[in-house]
Amino acid sequence: MTIAVALDGPAGAGKSTIAKRAAAALDYIYVDTGALYRTVGLAATRRGIAPVDSPAVDALLKSIRVDLTFNDEGTQVVLLDGEDVSGEIRTPEASMMASAISAIPSVRAYLLDLQRSMAKTHNVIMDGRDIGTVVLPDAQVKIFLTASPEARAGRRYKELVEKGMDVRYEDILQDVLTRDYNDTHRETAPLKPAEGCVTVDTTDLDFEQSVAKIISVIKENTHGAE
Ligand code: DC
Repeated sequence: MTIAVALDGPAGAGKSTIAKRAAAALDYIYVDTGALYRTVGLAATRRGIAPVDSPAVDALLKSIRVDLTFNDEGTQVVLLDGEDVSGEIRTPEASMMASAISAIPSVRAYLLDLQRSMAKTHNVIMDGRDIGTVVLPDAQVKIFLTASPEARAGRRYKELVEKGMDVRYEDILQDVLTRDYNDTHRETAPLKPAEGCVTVDTTDLDFEQSVAKIISVIKENTHGAE
């Protein structure tokens, strides 16, 4: 039997860095589902398709291929028509595009099987917005990872500045608030805590404390499952 950990929460709560480290410690694979929405968003951007134009997006989905693979270090690589776009999907523009396009039901349906298939063959920590509610409702562990908008914007700002990007904290905070609104108010699979989930608030936790907390929640809830 494989073990699935559904890790949901708002943008910038630290899901990906925390989950990556926890997955390495537990020997699970880490699946970042946001990368899939970002990739569909990138495909739309490249073809000049607005994320609100559902018929054009439907046609786009029929003509692209999105794949998830892992490199030698075990890091996820996302492919758009065979091209590694893992770096290109990380800009603030790609974030906003992903948030907008993820509200379209056909996009969510298109990515559902790919996400579920990853959990069939591996022990996974899967990070997203609707993993515990829609993608893997039977996951053994469901965690809702959150932090205040200011803390989340501060962390994302630092991350982008470290990558050499020229960004302003106020803009990042505004992006966080806009994405929170989009992600929690869309009709299909809105971001919300799954029933029976454990909520972990990292506002006052540093990275190591957050990782330790996530690992302890997983261990407590999978005791004897392996
Ligand atoms: O986790 P992220 O910031 O890379 O996600 C990008 C966008 O994709 C986010 O604004 C909402 C959307 N998303 C989603 O709707 N469902 C998921 N499971 C993952 C991401």
